[in-house]
Amino acid sequence: MADEQRYVLHTWTKQSEWSAPTIIGGDGAWFWDEHGRRYLDLSSQAECCNLGHQHPAVVRAIQAQAGRLCYISNAWGAQPRAELAQRIVRLANSVCPAQSPIYGRVFFTCDGAEATEHAIKIARWVTGRRKIVARYRSYHGATHGALSLSGDARGRQVSDGLRDVVRVLPPYCYRCPFGLRYPTCTLRCADHVADVIAYEGPQTIAAVIAEPAAGTNGIAAPPEYWPRLRQICDQHNILLIADEVMSGFGRCGAWFAWQAQGLTEAGHPACPDLFLMAKGLTGAHIPLGAICVSERVAAYFDAHTLETGLTYSGHPLACAAGVAALRAYEEEGLIERAAQLGAWMFERLHAIQRHHACIGDVRGMGLFACIEMSENTFPEPLPWLKRLARTALQHGVSVAVRSNLLFICPPLVIEQPDLDWGLSVIDKLLPA
Ligand SMILES: Cc1ncc(COP(=O)(O)O)c(C=O)c1O
Repeated sequence: MADEQRYVLHTWTKQSEWSAPTIIGGDGAWFWDEHGRRYLDLSSQAECCNLGHQHPAVVRAIQAQAGRLCYISNAWGAQPRAELAQRIVRLANSVCPAQSPIYGRVFFTCDGAEATEHAIKIARWVTGRRKIVARYRSYHGATHGALSLSGDARGRQVSDGLRDVVRVLPPYCYRCPFGLRYPTCTLRCADHVADVIAYEGPQTIAAVIAEPAAGTNGIAAPPEYWPRLRQICDQHNILLIADEVMSGFGRCGAWFAWQAQGLTEAGHPACPDLFLMAKGLTGAHIPLGAICVSERVAAYFDAHTLETGLTYSGHPLACAAGVAALRAYEEEGLIERAAQLGAWMFERLHAIQRHHACIGDVRGMGLFACIEMSENTFPEPLPWLKRLARTALQHGVSVAVRSNLLFICPPLVIEQPDLDWGLSVIDKLLPA
């Protein structure tokens, strides 16, 4: 602990304020510290341990791959890399409308931010256009470009970041930026995107990037919004990029959040041209990110050099973890489990909301819940909520809070009685 405080630079905090126990082990939805204190993980750490801690099949796959071959560069083939790419493409196509294949290839990165960076490069190359439309209340990663796309307080630090970013207002019904109410608003927030595109000149816009379920900024969007974005992009040959880094792999009760949105006029989910993954891709057992691109986008690189690279792109150990993770989601029925357990969890959360006036809104889907307090300090922290998270930890429950938002995003493998107990602790700690 003393060395951790003395030598490590910790993320998103003043170093003088950092203090936490040293964690030495974990199993499923639980982890424990060096003193044997156990914590129920209601945030899946950084919303990434979708499979829980130390998933045995993933750990075994990493061990087996480490015994065979830890690393080989992109200049060579690697069996787990090829298998994972094939599995992602197959999976993506199996959730396409009427199962007609759309997706073609996968580009591997080390994390979510790098996936964002490369998706932007790809979109600009393929379209020959520069501008990227991104939303307020969004987060796409902490590297220079990804952060300058991110429309929250964190993104403001890089005002000299990526050029040609066009910002639009978010779909955010609880405090609608247009002062309207869903559904009578007829989705003014989507019309606004179309308006901004028209003002900017559609022929200058390469892509719209959005989180189908906006993660760290509070999981909000009416169901019809995503298909409307697809429609708007199609009208102008603009690529639609879904950032599924946090919302993918069962988090929203579907493989990807874009499937859990409303349907297109033709009656199927609106497929993005590119979608980004990380976190749940290996359940965070090893860092790995990826971009799955449509066959149409991939085809561009048949005749054009892909002018980018990463030493660890498609790292065999990480890909072996990814293959095992995808198998685990499938074989253990975890995507369906997230939908079912999530339905129960939302009933429980709405019941909690009924006797706490401090709660303004409960929203989300699957095992991805955001509780927004009626007191609005966004993006500044709400002091009592920060204290609540600290007290919850003393009671053995770990939750994520950000400004006036409290997130409940447990591993998909959490036992229902454990989740029930964790929520009852939060219920008791919330002010009346
Ligand atoms: C939606 C979204 N995109 C991108 C990222 C960045 O991912 P990473 O932290 O792996 O770089 C995050 C991280 O929380 C995220 O939530």
